Amino acid sequence: MLIHGFPLDRSIWNELVPLLEDRFDLIVPDLRGFGRSGTVDAPYTLTDMGDDIAALLDDLEIDKAYLAGHSMGGYLALAFAKKHPEMVSGLALVSSQAAGDSPERKQGRYDLAGKVMEQGPAVVAEAMAPKMATGERLQQFARVLMSEQGVAGISGCLKAMAEREDLRTELADFDFPLVLIHGDADALIPIEQARDTLTRTDRARLVELPGVGHLPMLEAAEATAEALKQLETF
Ligand code: MLT
Repeated sequence: MLIHGFPLDRSIWNELVPLLEDRFDLIVPDLRGFGRSGTVDAPYTLTDMGDDIAALLDDLEIDKAYLAGHSMGGYLALAFAKKHPEMVSGLALVSSQAAGDSPERKQGRYDLAGKVMEQGPAVVAEAMAPKMATGERLQQFARVLMSEQGVAGISGCLKAMAEREDLRTELADFDFPLVLIHGDADALIPIEQARDTLTRTDRARLVELPGVGHLPMLEAAEATAEALKQLETF
């Protein structure tokens, strides 16, 4: 399952699908509040969003899956793995981290959620686009995609991310392969976070992508696909 990040939708994986579909039966959902998925009018957590994933797998009668989460999708995948470890064959964190937010970052998310409620998704799109990718073309792609997402999903996830758990110490308990994929030019989540994750479990591998920003699935699709295939090989 390929789980998109914030505030994006399933379409970020479009280039990866043809590179992976020979190896995996792919499930590529829109998370609640993004793309074509509706949302709820009450606060929710990343664990709740993980439960959406568990419900989707149950509906599809799938007991166990490999999960690849991009950025916030990785936070969600980690929350899912903590609650439903028996459903995880392996985990990939793409441009993500296991740490929680600092108090300043947390406050920043609440402030941003307030601005989004007043002014709409363009506030987030403008703030994040320059940090999303290394080239202008992909920054513009991300800007447009972020502007198309709904206010409820954006503000709901800002709060869910602010309240997420720090799961760094849980990593040592995970009994499945963990592939970390990270660009060394990521301006949103520094590669040091992935290097730190690597030290916390002996079941992890890190694939560092030189010159790549926060969107490896678009900036380096083939290298990202090859790295994801490693999930099956250890
Ligand atoms: C994401 O790309 O999903 C978010 O930028 C992650 C975050 O804000 O921590």
